[in-house]
Amino acid sequence: MADLLHNQFPPDSLEAKDLEHLLHPTTNLQQHHEVGPVVHERAQGVYLWDNHGKQYIEGMSGLWCTALGYGERELVEAATEQLEKLSYSQLFGGKTNEPSILLAEKLKAMVPFDAGRVFFGLSGSDANDTQIKLMWYYNNAIGRPEKKKIISRTRGYHGVTIGSGSLTGLAPFHKHFDLPIPEVLHTDCPYYYREAAEAETEQDFVDRIVDNLEQLIVREGPETIAAFIAEPVMGAGGVIVPPPGYFQKVQALLVKYDIFFIDDEVICGFGRTGRAFGAETFDIEPTTMSLAKAVSSAYLPLSAVLIPEFMYEPFIAVSGEIGTFGHGFTYSGHPVCAAVALRNVELMEERNIFEHAATVGEVFQQRLRGFADHPLVGDTRGVGLIGAVELVSDKETKASFDAAKGVGAYLMNRCEANGVILRALGDTLAFCPPLIISEDQVDELFTRFATALNETLQWVR
Ligand SMILES: Cc1ncc(COP(=O)(O)O)c(C=O)c1O
Repeated sequence: MADLLHNQFPPDSLEAKDLEHLLHPTTNLQQHHEVGPVVHERAQGVYLWDNHGKQYIEGMSGLWCTALGYGERELVEAATEQLEKLSYSQLFGGKTNEPSILLAEKLKAMVPFDAGRVFFGLSGSDANDTQIKLMWYYNNAIGRPEKKKIISRTRGYHGVTIGSGSLTGLAPFHKHFDLPIPEVLHTDCPYYYREAAEAETEQDFVDRIVDNLEQLIVREGPETIAAFIAEPVMGAGGVIVPPPGYFQKVQALLVKYDIFFIDDEVICGFGRTGRAFGAETFDIEPTTMSLAKAVSSAYLPLSAVLIPEFMYEPFIAVSGEIGTFGHGFTYSGHPVCAAVALRNVELMEERNIFEHAATVGEVFQQRLRGFADHPLVGDTRGVGLIGAVELVSDKETKASFDAAKGVGAYLMNRCEANGVILRALGDTLAFCPPLIISEDQVDELFTRFATALNETLQWVR
């Protein structure tokens, strides 16, 4: 093991110190010790530079989050002003602060459902953990303590805490962590390209997986199921765009069996799909909503859970009996995070960012689909400014490459070498550029990607 810590970097370099001191999240640690880190040093707009001065175009908005791009002065000023005025305050015990109140008011006005209350946290994971706890608290409060299970989907990504990590439907987030917890069930994901049966139409596929969902609900007993959680477009699971009609059919089932819809808008929220929220793009009627990432363009961490007033009302009496509503974080309603998020969403509106995402999104989708004919590409998919290219070893049979070959990872590395940051989700390359990207920059991004893809083809051959 010790020799893993010896590496090719000069001992005083950031690379060497990284390898010595950090435990990297969501990283193949073995590979990391072999190849070492990339040190990000500075960024502006849609461009980022590493510590050797190499420039990259940001094709992933960091982790699907830097919606307004980097170095936005208005957000730096909003943070600085608030830091000077009131660097910290809390929401515990009825204390409050202006940025949190105004942000809650603003978010309620923006979301496409009748939200009554806003609970603040710092990450998508804590938001979805809060969602589970609120479903439990609510059902206990109204006297149906058996209605507790949450249905999520395979390939869904909802975070990594014990609750949200259980909602996540991807094996590496469960294995050796003893997850998922028994209250979480998983149903099919609407991944038509990979999971449709031979000759099955999109509509037949939707009917089949929605029927599977109904069977699961009936088998478990609808009286035991509190909620269904979904991302409008699955992100980390491979950028899966549902076929037309999928959410309408799911939603009808949820109404039939009195199951709430938790809409995880952590990636889709704030313009990613070309509308303000994924719920609008896909005609979803959420019961509750999780927000994070683009809500603050990642200048500072902030998440929000929005619930309807009817869920909040029973909390009042119950918390009175218990003595407190016993859920909250030290940084729930952090005034600096809230001030930045508020200015961020105001800027999105002032600059018509959602309309921009829709317009540039069309060019982006057109360029993306252009790769469908490439010998390595099995599928291209996306909506607005999110998309993916899935690599296959055989276009006809859709056969995947042997996972051990690491073709997706190789392409991601070639992308980096050519100055574009993308993310390999297995052999699917994900695209999620900042919403401020221009048409010329979309062109630049795909030109660099095309070079990397052709280099990968050479390597594969
Ligand atoms: C849809 C979705 N939900 C939740 C999360 C978890 O957010 P965080 O990493 O901030 O905990 C993510 C993160 O990528 C996400 O994509």
